[in-house]
Amino acid sequence: MKVEFYKHNLGPEELAAITQACQGTILTTGGYATQAEAAMQAYLGYGACLAVDSCTAALHLALLAYGIGPGDEVITTPMSFAATANSIIMAGATPVFADVEAFTANLDAAQAEAAVTPRTKAIMPVHLYGQMCDMRALRAVADRHNLVIIEDAAHCIEAVRDGLRPGELGDCACLSFYATKNITCGEGGMLVSRDADFLARARCISCHGIDRSANDRYGKAYQHWDMPMFGWKYNLDNIRASLLPPQILKMDAWQKRREELSLRYMAQLAGIPGVDFPRLAQNSKSAHHLQTAWVAPDLRDRVLVRLQELGIGVAVNYRPIHLLQYYRGLGFAEGMFPVAEDIGSRTLSLPLYVKLADKECDHVVESLRSVLAGLQAS
Ligand SMILES: Cc1ncc(COP(=O)(O)O)c(C=O)c1O
Repeated sequence: MKVEFYKHNLGPEELAAITQACQGTILTTGGYATQAEAAMQAYLGYGACLAVDSCTAALHLALLAYGIGPGDEVITTPMSFAATANSIIMAGATPVFADVEAFTANLDAAQAEAAVTPRTKAIMPVHLYGQMCDMRALRAVADRHNLVIIEDAAHCIEAVRDGLRPGELGDCACLSFYATKNITCGEGGMLVSRDADFLARARCISCHGIDRSANDRYGKAYQHWDMPMFGWKYNLDNIRASLLPPQILKMDAWQKRREELSLRYMAQLAGIPGVDFPRLAQNSKSAHHLQTAWVAPDLRDRVLVRLQELGIGVAVNYRPIHLLQYYRGLGFAEGMFPVAEDIGSRTLSLPLYVKLADKECDHVVESLRSVLAGLQAS
């Protein structure tokens, strides 16, 4: 039985929407992007949204719109995708890593506080695998040191922890609609915030720092545009944006199915000797983006190869950022963030998506059980 690592769940509603968008006049940012922003705002129930062409763009824009740049430090987690720390470098600032909690793999608030210096301007936590960080603890750290919080919520739109959603206690949250995310338009992202001035600055920076979008210039009486600030080209086009509103309506139902699958996985993984997995904190509803299993570090890579040979899609989320070649070149080395390094050496991700059938889930678990038993015996 072949089991893909990921399958999207785009269906007739999404196809109808993208067809309609392609039949319209405005292919670049316009009404569909505005609809996607409104749909996400209605889903989250707070603030406002800015549609952009990736979560990386949203992270970069957030830093720029807060005026964070050269000479500033931003504290983040090494247990994430490279984009998180890269966005800090893109803004000209310096990423400062702090270690993670052993049981969730999320940024540890005490470690983040220990990394604060007079140059620290922001904390960029990542809600890893779909579970939110302890935002109350991080907010307390940020308030003690007058820092902004930019939440990397690429894995996590649907989660709630201690009654809070992503971006609700931080200053903003950055969402991803990348090809394998919980909802997707191939490549896309969104910036969410309660701060209207910040979002207006980010909107301007997202389109070269000019003060009128192409849609504004087309739809209204001609007005010259000006460029009050320097900007980048991060706007989301109507074609991709059109895929989002129908999916946003289904997000909760999809989360429930992934939750069911994840509980099924965890109940079975708990019975396999030598397998562990991240735990859910109290009062935490996860978005269940990734299904993680932790195995012995000396077996992990062989488990990956054997599962792939059996036709099961797997991934590693993640080897810690500070040990990637480029970051080693900046002076980071083994031993600096032992918890993240330990997790990075043991982690593997199993298939988790709405279209995964129960019997496929069970087959993945049984395959992992037999692969591990074989390797442990050899
Ligand atoms: C934790 C995390 N942050 C940021 C990103 C970047 O997202 P995007 O590909 O939309 O730029 C990803 C993408 O995979 C991610 O997993």
